[in-house]
Amino acid sequence: MTCVLAIDQGTTGTTCLVIGQNGRILGRAYREITQYYPQPGWVEHDAHEILDRTVAAAREAIADAGVDPIVIGITNQRETIVVWERATGRAVHHAIVWQDRRTADRCLELAPQAAMIAEKTGLVTDPYFSATKLEWLLQQPGMRERAKRGELAAGTIDSWLVWHLTGGESHVTDHTNASRTMLYDLGTHAWSPELCALFGVPADLLPRIVPSSGLIGTAVASVLGHEIPIMGIAGDQQAALFGQGGWHTGSGKNTYGTGAFLLLNTGTVRPQSATGLLTTIACDERGNPVYALEASIFIAGAAVQWLRDGLGIIADSSETEGLARSLDSNDGVYFVPALVGLGAPDWEPNARGTIVGLTRGSTRAHFARAALEAMAYATNDVLGDMRTQGGVPFDRLRVDGGATANDWLMQFQADVLGVPVERPDIVETTAMGAAGLAGLAVGLWANGDEFLAGRHFTRFIPTGDATATAGYAGWRRAVRGALSWARD
Ligand code: G3P
Repeated sequence: MTCVLAIDQGTTGTTCLVIGQNGRILGRAYREITQYYPQPGWVEHDAHEILDRTVAAAREAIADAGVDPIVIGITNQRETIVVWERATGRAVHHAIVWQDRRTADRCLELAPQAAMIAEKTGLVTDPYFSATKLEWLLQQPGMRERAKRGELAAGTIDSWLVWHLTGGESHVTDHTNASRTMLYDLGTHAWSPELCALFGVPADLLPRIVPSSGLIGTAVASVLGHEIPIMGIAGDQQAALFGQGGWHTGSGKNTYGTGAFLLLNTGTVRPQSATGLLTTIACDERGNPVYALEASIFIAGAAVQWLRDGLGIIADSSETEGLARSLDSNDGVYFVPALVGLGAPDWEPNARGTIVGLTRGSTRAHFARAALEAMAYATNDVLGDMRTQGGVPFDRLRVDGGATANDWLMQFQADVLGVPVERPDIVETTAMGAAGLAGLAVGLWANGDEFLAGRHFTRFIPTGDATATAGYAGWRRAVRGALSWARD
């Protein structure tokens, strides 16, 4: 059986899937990664742990499948940045994760340059993106001098993994990942010299930018037993869009992972994003860059994880479905999960998690329901802007990601939006997207239709439930509360 190894290196862990030509999952493995919170608002990962656990998951998935893949596709948490030594491959510091807010003040200082940054990169000047994190790393003792001497390399997690899988041969990234750094010029499809100068980044510190599909490098035999070409890379949200068949202009999706990310492919014409939406790079059917609009909601499934790991009021994420169903309404309890600030559409790095409406009658069911409702309401916050700025009716919403296994959430989402929600039978579309980019490059599938063949969807049709829509005003009031607390 001919198959692809898809590596999905996400914020909470790495999923590896071995996917056959018929689109079936033949083998799988998962490894969680450690989250480091050295100070409030700071989030780090150990890049070496990411590498080791990714390789372990890849080996286990291949053993599980019992068949060797002919090609590798990689997708990754975006924006998270690593700096390492070229000579040894050792990271000089923990990776600074996309959720990290340590550069919030620096972003405020950059207000005079924000319009220029938006024009070049399509992004809001926010700590979310890699540039200010890389600038911070280069400000650590001795780093700038070492970078100038050419001793260091930098990159997002795709670059880090490819460097190590190829034994230090390839220092590359793709356009989708590059477009999240705030150093990439959407007009020239290359690193921007002006932005590199603004953030003090020497050009040769950065990886070479390559298309998302095609020969990217070759994993050396010591990693997975024999040499395997790496033929696909994409940021995880763009990979999920691809895995949903979103290579056509006008196709979109919402992924409910750690955060929720709504993307709309706008084709070869750059859209003018405003009111908190971003312009970014996605892929056409051959993995070449096209434009997309994106709404980045920082916390979605992570709010449920926090109920489990932070508060300890549930033992497993799946409990939230029964808890939410046990209530007829939210009884006025709202949770704005701004645990790492707020992204689209409000963009407030200093916002923090806010729970309103608690009474003596509130129970853990209210917390669970409020965490699920937050995902649906936050999606409603951005869908209208997507419709107007993208010029697409969005008369249905394709969804994927772990939280979409929750039927209560999917029905509530359809009721809040007033449009059908469609969930594919394989919700791991991120890994599927990476597999598609690699498999199409090697001819495993002749075209996108062949890659997508046999996909089925479950549809959630709006029921006209008034509590879902009536509750939205309360959500916005709670968000305004979180914003005024941050800005007061
Ligand atoms: O932009 C951040 C995003 O790429 C993280 O994705 O799947 O780890 O929630 P995920």
